[in-house]
Amino acid sequence: MPFWTSARRSGAMAETPPMHARSESLADIILETRGLTRAFKGFVAVSGVNLKVRRGHIHALIGPNGAGKTTMFNLLTRFLIPTSGQILYEGIDITGERPAEIARRGIIRSFQISAVFPHLSVRENVRVGLQRRLGNSFHFWRSERSLGALDARADELLDAVGLLDCAAETTVNLPYGRKRALEIATTLALDPALMLLDEPTQGMGHEDVSRVTELIRRVAKDRTVLMVEHNMGVVAGLCDAITVLQRGQVLSEGDYDTVSADPRVIEAYMGSTDTALAGAHG
Ligand SMILES: Nc1ncnc2c1ncn2[C@@H]1O[C@H](COP(=O)(O)OP(=O)(O)OP(=O)(O)O)[C@@H](O)[C@H]1O
Ligand SMILES: [Mg+2]
Repeated sequence: MPFWTSARRSGAMAETPPMHARSESLADIILETRGLTRAFKGFVAVSGVNLKVRRGHIHALIGPNGAGKTTMFNLLTRFLIPTSGQILYEGIDITGERPAEIARRGIIRSFQISAVFPHLSVRENVRVGLQRRLGNSFHFWRSERSLGALDARADELLDAVGLLDCAAETTVNLPYGRKRALEIATTLALDPALMLLDEPTQGMGHEDVSRVTELIRRVAKDRTVLMVEHNMGVVAGLCDAITVLQRGQVLSEGDYDTVSADPRVIEAYMGSTDTALAGAHG
């Protein structure tokens, strides 16, 4: 089945209309890159990318393997230094800032599950995130009362991601899909304004994919999400805007209908593998 025909706004994904139709102003753009470029010893992995992410949107970054999606995320969180170009957050040039400064501004990337502590309980993992957010304000979290407040907040977050029933479970024992949900809860603990998710449904079975899709929709209500996603069913049902990268450059952008009808996009994917996009990452 060609990937573009898969699961367009089907089932539970059907209700929420995309958020657009406002005229674009500076205040609407939470994140912008201008001519963002990164070369590795002469190989240009990201090349002159101009990206605009609107506040409140769920924005997908898609493209064939090796297109530069993860490199983009590494540049945005300053895990890589751009060769040239600019990154603006809330209109402020953050290109030269350190990763910790960028995180403090509210740009938080959800890391792979290796970043959760396997031998802590589910609730303790969320608490670590909450404590990280409080940073050096040790006085706050050392008192009994504030510890209780942390537990209450942790449980709220666990409830939001559907993990409250296994709060006391040791994390290592969770099935894969629930570990990814925990990863999202620990990211939410940092209260991001802009959440970066790199393939949140990767390696998941059908049921977990729907659960995590619903979860992203819910947590995106009062924040902005930029996500790399290979599953076109998820992108079609969830995302307000899509940027397609190919060989480090923007190939196409717009809403799902625009992008999926773009002959360059169809060719880019059809030219890649027989299984096309949906199968690219299992
Ligand atoms: N540290 C590095 N050194 C050299 N080349 C790199 C490095 N990181 C990425 N690349 C190259 O840059 C290109 C883009 O890689 P990137 O990981 O950003 O792609 P991607 O779009 O995330 O792909 P995938 O869908 O497979 O995750 C690839 O050709 C990759 O080999
Ligand atoms: Mg990648």
